[in-house]
Amino acid sequence: MNKKLRVLSGIQPSGILHIGNYFGAMKQFVELQEENESFIFIADFHALTSVRDPNELRKNTLEVAINYLAVGLDPKKVFLFKQSDVPEVCELSWYLSTITPMGLLERCHSYKDKIAKGIAADHGLFAYPVLMAADILIYKSDIVPVGKDQKQHVEVARDIAIKFNNIYNKEVLKVPDIRIKDETSVVPGIDGQKMSKSYNNYISPFWDEKEIKKTIMRVVTDSTPVESPKDPDKCNVFALYKLMASKEDIEIMRNKYLNGGYGYGDAKKELLAKTLDYFAPIRKRYVELKNDISFVEKILKEGAEKARSEAINTIEEVRKTVGIK
Ligand code: ADP
Ligand code: TRP
Repeated sequence: MNKKLRVLSGIQPSGILHIGNYFGAMKQFVELQEENESFIFIADFHALTSVRDPNELRKNTLEVAINYLAVGLDPKKVFLFKQSDVPEVCELSWYLSTITPMGLLERCHSYKDKIAKGIAADHGLFAYPVLMAADILIYKSDIVPVGKDQKQHVEVARDIAIKFNNIYNKEVLKVPDIRIKDETSVVPGIDGQKMSKSYNNYISPFWDEKEIKKTIMRVVTDSTPVESPKDPDKCNVFALYKLMASKEDIEIMRNKYLNGGYGYGDAKKELLAKTLDYFAPIRKRYVELKNDISFVEKILKEGAEKARSEAINTIEEVRKTVGIK
């Protein structure tokens, strides 16, 4: 039997998760857990580069854990934990820092984009990719699934691992493969731009029904009158509906658009019903988990124990390799 591959990824607890995150990221983690051994963590150390309110950080961290369990991460198949519960990553991050060329980090978008906008960057943001490399390398990960925006950071982790192994002339760190999540599926927001928390154009499956309804009714459409035929492929309502509906239901709605006599208000009502139906089990689970925080904390604790034991093995090997022990 083939040994399972180790999948690792991190999620920043920097705000509420929306259906763009669900279709673009969360769903893949749930799919990947079936065939592999998954380590998924909530990157609270990383979030400190943008969240400076301690209560907000604690709240977001727990919320993201609940969101991921609600969408179907199965604690029997996945080790879910908080990054900060494995402080050894900070130690590894230091060893890696000592061999990371400045130029490599200066080229990273996270830092470069800020500088280009004239925003003063701090050392945390500059060193962010090194901590991310430590996250990846400490668990000897085989596959790192990330969105396109994080691809460069995983490449940096690969470069650092190769350099470390070369300098110490030993295959200590595993060079991971990158898995880029399907980029064809950019979920549009209610204004037609990419759905993003920064654009305030998102719909969260974890909101109450009233808020979901209110937001769906605000999806931007053109001013074609009810009687006229409409182009479904130019409509945000239809684009969102397609993510959740069956092939048959998509065809039915497409024909309604093309035939005319079907208003955007009607389409929005159908989108609302479909959204509530699609996310019903996830919303139910979310409420259950919200009422059972001690269960969520137990999962995080168990995940952290496993993750930490793996991290300790690597850090001991690395300490010996560099001459600290
Ligand atoms: P946001 O843009 O809301 O800040 P993040 O950058 O935190 O979202 O993204 C977290 C994950 O969700 C990433 O893997 C990203 O690729 C994915 N993601 C975010 N928005 C979308 C979207 N509109 N469509 C598809 N995937 C998305
Ligand atoms: N930087 C990633 C993001 O913003 C989160 C992250 C931190 C991560 N460490 C990681 C992702 C290690 C993959 C692997 O989305």
